[in-house]
Amino acid sequence: MPKAVIYRQYGVPAETVEVEEIAPAKPGLGEVRVNRILAPINPADLNTIEGKYPARYPLPATPGIEGVGTIAELGEGVTSTDLKVGSAVLLPAGLGSWREEVIAKASDLFPVPEGVPYQEAAMIRVNPATAWRMLHDFVAPQPGGWVIQNGGNSGVGRSVIAIAQKIGLKTVSLVRRPELIDELKALGADVVLLDDETAKDKIKESTGGAKILLGLNSVGGESAIRVAGALANGGKVVTFGAMSRQPMKIPTGFLIFKDIQFVGYWMTRWYKNTTVDQHRALFAQLLELAKAGTFQTPVEKIYPVSEVREAITRALQGSRGGKILLGQA
Ligand SMILES: NC(=O)c1ccc[n+]([C@@H]2O[C@H](COP(=O)([O-])OP(=O)(O)OC[C@H]3O[C@@H](n4cnc5c(N)ncnc54)[C@H](OP(=O)(O)O)[C@@H]3O)[C@@H](O)[C@H]2O)c1
Repeated sequence: MPKAVIYRQYGVPAETVEVEEIAPAKPGLGEVRVNRILAPINPADLNTIEGKYPARYPLPATPGIEGVGTIAELGEGVTSTDLKVGSAVLLPAGLGSWREEVIAKASDLFPVPEGVPYQEAAMIRVNPATAWRMLHDFVAPQPGGWVIQNGGNSGVGRSVIAIAQKIGLKTVSLVRRPELIDELKALGADVVLLDDETAKDKIKESTGGAKILLGLNSVGGESAIRVAGALANGGKVVTFGAMSRQPMKIPTGFLIFKDIQFVGYWMTRWYKNTTVDQHRALFAQLLELAKAGTFQTPVEKIYPVSEVREAITRALQGSRGGKILLGQA
């Protein structure tokens, strides 16, 4: 019998989740049964189980915002030529991808073109989508322009590097481990620096004093202020994560004299405020990039659903060699 991860109350993720067998189900009218192949453990999934994420689902619930699967069975009335038994699809958000099998509405599935690595497709909806939107929606990208980010080694950070390179932007990435510098440069990052007090001068030096107008912050605390401090007058800091869980103490002069703007970004809000056609256009663009090998998201380990507690424990640790996924290795 297929298995699913569930949580019945909010709490410490590795202690709260349970694994249950799910009764095999037949797809109904307009529905499809999908064998889930891979689903990542994203920070937002863990925050959701903790009850600290604004998107909440009726309990008991199955975690997992995104994933990829292959169609196992078509229900009555599913006539789309894109959806055939065996073809790969992106799972819809909200159903809970941390399960081995799912019944979904055919109209909610997005076909994955042949040649896209499953690993990248499983993670396309959250991190590359966030990177794409942040690079386009706040400061109009100009070829040769610069963007600075902290958390350069994160899934989003690596997507930022890959997409920026595609659209002609240059990147400064701050990381907290020296061994990542060469690794990210090999991926196409222009400048990679340690996220410490030495960064300020090194950013100026290595960019030739470039006018940087976009800063992406997923760390918070002092690191966020380093990103803001590197921006030219009128620049924007887009905060989309808080990995350090430290608040930002913004120097007043950044606001008054440099007119630095601090804004937030939440991919969920973009999905809510836009149409299904816009989502499909974004997925199509990102999956094309994935097919071309643009994203090289490292995966440290794929755990079976039955080992979800070990998987969560590892996903919560720093200095990983890549993302943690649930699925079939
Ligand atoms: N707002 C949105 O819509 C949105 C969308 C996607 C992601 N996010 C957020 O973006 C962030 C990154 O997500 P992801 O999936 O890309 O992450 P990920 O691939 O799991 O990587 C986590 C990153 O955070 C770093 N990190 C962990 N703890 C840290 C700390 N205490 N101080 C500084 N850095 C720390 C890690 O550095 P090491 O490699 O050195 O351990 C790693 O680079 C998360 O906060 C996530 O919630 C937000």
